[in-house]
Amino acid sequence: VSCVTRPGRGNVPAELSGFVGRRAEVSEVRRLLERNRLVTLTGMGGVGKTRLALKVAESARRGFRDGVWLVELAATTDANLVPSAVAGVFGVADRSDRSAVSTLLGYLEDKRLLLVLDNCEHLVDVCAVLAAKLLACAPDLRVLATSRQPLRVDGEQVVPVVPLSTPDPHDLPMGDLAQFEAVELFVQRARAVVPTFEVTEANRAALAKVCRRVEGIPLAIELAAARVPVLSVAQILLRLDDRFALLTKKSRIAPDRHRTLTATLDWSYELCSPPEQLLWTRASVFAGGFDLDAAEQICAGDGIDRGEVFELVSGLVDKSILGRHAGIGSAARYGLLETVRDYGHQQLAGSGLQDTVRDRHREYYLELARQGQAGRVSDREVEWLLRLRREWPNLRAAMESGLARQDFAHSTLDIALALRDLWFGTGRHREGLHWLSRAIAASGERTPARVIALTEAAYFAMRLGEAATCDRMLTEARALADRLDDVHARLVVTHTRGTLALLQNPPDLPLAQALTEAAAAGYRLTGDLRRQINALQQLFAIALFLGETAAAADHAEQCRGLAEAHGAEWTRSWGLVLLATLRARQGEPARTEALLYEAMPTHLLVGDSYAAGISLELLAWAATATGHPERGARLLGACEVTKRLNGPALAQQAALAVQHDQAVRAARQALGDDAYGTLFDEGAQFTLDEAIRYGLGEQPPRPPAATPGAAGAGLAPLTPREQEIAELVTQGLTNKQIAARLVISQRTAEGHVENILTKLGFTNRAQISRWITERGGTTP
Ligand SMILES: Nc1ncnc2c1ncn2[C@@H]1O[C@H](COP(=O)(O)OP(=O)(O)OP(=O)(O)O)[C@@H](O)[C@H]1O
Ligand SMILES: [Mg+2]
Repeated sequence: VSCVTRPGRGNVPAELSGFVGRRAEVSEVRRLLERNRLVTLTGMGGVGKTRLALKVAESARRGFRDGVWLVELAATTDANLVPSAVAGVFGVADRSDRSAVSTLLGYLEDKRLLLVLDNCEHLVDVCAVLAAKLLACAPDLRVLATSRQPLRVDGEQVVPVVPLSTPDPHDLPMGDLAQFEAVELFVQRARAVVPTFEVTEANRAALAKVCRRVEGIPLAIELAAARVPVLSVAQILLRLDDRFALLTKKSRIAPDRHRTLTATLDWSYELCSPPEQLLWTRASVFAGGFDLDAAEQICAGDGIDRGEVFELVSGLVDKSILGRHAGIGSAARYGLLETVRDYGHQQLAGSGLQDTVRDRHREYYLELARQGQAGRVSDREVEWLLRLRREWPNLRAAMESGLARQDFAHSTLDIALALRDLWFGTGRHREGLHWLSRAIAASGERTPARVIALTEAAYFAMRLGEAATCDRMLTEARALADRLDDVHARLVVTHTRGTLALLQNPPDLPLAQALTEAAAAGYRLTGDLRRQINALQQLFAIALFLGETAAAADHAEQCRGLAEAHGAEWTRSWGLVLLATLRARQGEPARTEALLYEAMPTHLLVGDSYAAGISLELLAWAATATGHPERGARLLGACEVTKRLNGPALAQQAALAVQHDQAVRAARQALGDDAYGTLFDEGAQFTLDEAIRYGLGEQPPRPPAATPGAAGAGLAPLTPREQEIAELVTQGLTNKQIAARLVISQRTAEGHVENILTKLGFTNRAQISRWITERGGTTP
């Protein structure tokens, strides 16, 4: 029995650009985190708080058994959603009848992990309360926050982040300027766009002045360096000087750092073409990034041609205004750093176009939501689910701004309804109820859409154990459906009543069956394929609990048949899960597994924790039945992962509980209590993805050091800069030679080499060479 330890866990993203300097800060913050449970990095926008926090998190990873986890709060505007944003990162849903906070507490209490709360400034109070609560009950938890202001909680250790070091232009040292972090950052970023960029006798003085001029603020340096393809360093300096002269003339006092940054942003803004300026400004309406299509639809018009949007986006990427976002899926995504976004937002507010752009944003995402709805049970269903998921922050922003507008409140319901499957499939019941009830309250229109929203909200309320809310909503839905005399709305009410009869404790199976059958028959006539299939799935569960195996098989086959007829991959995966459930009931492990192996890649793709929960349970039964108790025990543990999200899987309930207990008993007997417990715990520590992958037969995850650069990972986990350095090490260069070659200080080169050794779990340079050579890197 192996014990799997997993220091490599968490969700901190790989660095997309080289990290410069800050060695002392990194070790200082790490040291402070050993003694203080909450450390807040403070400082102005763009000074590098987030980057530093991520660096600390990455380098401290090994000290946290349960990983380092990043929660980005910049796009969260609603204070009420902060706890569920945090919960969502861990895959702990806000589904339980307890509040999201107490669910989160329950999950974190025995965890040894580092939680990075990034960009707290607009939510300082909520973050403060949340951090205090979490720390109070999770003794091994550490929180690293970044915020422009301190959170002001007891025990908070505040670390002001200062800009990068800059040379004194009046007293320039001989030789290497790259010992100054600001210079190193400038050179690095300049090389990213002009690989031949060098510090020369001719430009070193101007370079030092540019770095001083922008006071070493990393964001400002990046903006300045982005101009290297078109301007010489001297020209950059000249133009910055002009800009700052203007600034001092206006205010007659020397600019402070904030004004330095604003001035650099102004400068950058002025160097953009007028349509680029418009695009920057308008792109500030997006939350959590955007793709080209959205930019074309929302930002074009009033001075921008749709046909030129691509060109403008590329121009802004070149100027470091827009960054490429790592997105799920294929289309390239772009995003703005918070400070750059704020700047654009202010410009937009002053332009008089704010409402127009907001309206377009809302309309665009409403349309997207509607199309997403229409795309269900079609050959584009998976694509749509992923797309809606990717646009979740924008959809939230659209709902938020829509709720404030009387004329749009009703359309907000449509967005909320389109997100229903996502909330459900990922266990975000609390969030579903939150938006649905707000939209229902804001919209006064008595329409069939309102009836449907009420039934969905009633369903979420039921899952959250809020019986009174559930009743109230359902009663209103029923009355309204009758008053409207709308066939479809009535069917949905009937269907929901069937669902509630099935979910109530104890369930009223005959009533649930009668109501659901009526709904299914009705949907067949009205042609609501999605709900028809939902009803069939429900009928399957009812039949199974009633012991009507033949009827259950019939419902499951119908689901699969309809899904296949429409090429709907996700719906089909559900059909397969239902069929697998039957096979498992009948004691046919091989056929159960075959069906699930076909279904589970889709669970993985769309992150469907609900379906995955059932599949993992069934796989656990199959494993114990076929003499694989270790796998069985881990899988039973893995079910805890989805249980946290969606509650107990179907297969752990009612009639099926017997088989669950059997599997537990068999595994325990075969392994002994201790080994069973260890393996179960290993499974319970999986992330959702890991759990599904394990179910599909992949090995349980191991520490990254054990499998450096696993197949297909290229030179991961090294950053591009580290790869470059590792290759130079392979060519036999000393740290000093590497430093000279890359125009960095020797100390920096040493730091990189140390990082490489740590990351790969190596102790000497020869190991690095071998590792690089094996991966087809440069040979001497
Ligand atoms: N040490 C560093 N090495 C390389 N790049 C850096 C470093 N520090 C900051 N940067 C870059 O500077 C920019 C601003 O940094 P960052 O986003 O961390 O600032 P911030 O203080 O979090 O700002 P905000 O308050 O707006 O969130 C980013 O593009 C970041 O990658
Ligand atoms: Mg930040």
